[in-house]
Amino acid sequence: MRVLKLGALALAMGFAMSASAQGLPKLADKPTYKVGFAQTESNNPWRIAETQSMKDAANTCHWDLVYTDAASSASKQVADVESMIAQKVDVIVLAPREEKPLIPAVMKAKKAGIPVILIDRNVDQSVAKAGRDYVTFIGSDFIDQGRRVGEWLVKTTGGKGTIVELEGTTGSSPANDRKKGFDDVVKAQPGMKIVASQSGDFERDKGRQVMQTLLQAHPDVTAVYAHNDEMALGAIAALEAAGKKPGQDVIVVSIDGTKDGLVAIDNGKLGASVQSSPFFGPISCDTIKNYAKGQAIPAWVKVSDKFYEKSNAKENMANGF
Ligand code: AHR
Repeated sequence: MRVLKLGALALAMGFAMSASAQGLPKLADKPTYKVGFAQTESNNPWRIAETQSMKDAANTCHWDLVYTDAASSASKQVADVESMIAQKVDVIVLAPREEKPLIPAVMKAKKAGIPVILIDRNVDQSVAKAGRDYVTFIGSDFIDQGRRVGEWLVKTTGGKGTIVELEGTTGSSPANDRKKGFDDVVKAQPGMKIVASQSGDFERDKGRQVMQTLLQAHPDVTAVYAHNDEMALGAIAALEAAGKKPGQDVIVVSIDGTKDGLVAIDNGKLGASVQSSPFFGPISCDTIKNYAKGQAIPAWVKVSDKFYEKSNAKENMANGF
């Protein structure tokens, strides 16, 4: 079974404190919980793997799971959380689609006495804070993911490149942070330039369409950085349709570590991908249990990510999803 590999439980923002110390809603210590899981959408393999991990956890942890899919709409996700509050779930596990629009829903749950755990994506830290407004954020360091991909590209190209960037969902924490991590690395390279940066909404076909359009304005592109593997695969299709050879004429890099991404690395079309684990079920189960027992929970439960490139893609194929 694939299990989230946690680095040290990082105290990323201040000290871990118990619920009572912070004024967060408490959770009774009991054998089973009614858990609300508010998913953002189901439009790519990463989302499907995340949902499956939560459903598997519902079985092994004996949750009565209330599952919702916001179908790519932040306002539907707000309504989904409100419905969970009305159904009096014990705890809400939320993957917030975007950083700002979900904050009122988080606050409403707190007011209703329901603890919220954020998984995979975060909310705007200048408005809502882990340990004060919600229990914790469990997820990857998205800035670091972008940085690692950027450093690989610098090493591989000798610091030269005309780059197109395909961003994830506008306003989401992975899109904001993956952009920052990568762009900061590129800015320090005089021989590299990001000539276009546009959202493909984390979707394969949108990535393909955006790349197709951008190629017309930038036929001289030598590298593509996509914020997830699905958009990278869409970009690879667009490059091939334009008669370019991904991996030779244009180096493509991305994030996620999906099965299709690993296959594309192995066949040389995708240069590298940083894993972003979607397997939040087991860690959500442990976090809920620990929180109910009154244990201090860190503000950020950091997930550590592998790095995939040609030399290790085949051996890691089983980690893909
Ligand atoms: O929040 C994580 C991102 O969301 C994944 O990289 C992407 O594939 C998904 O939709």
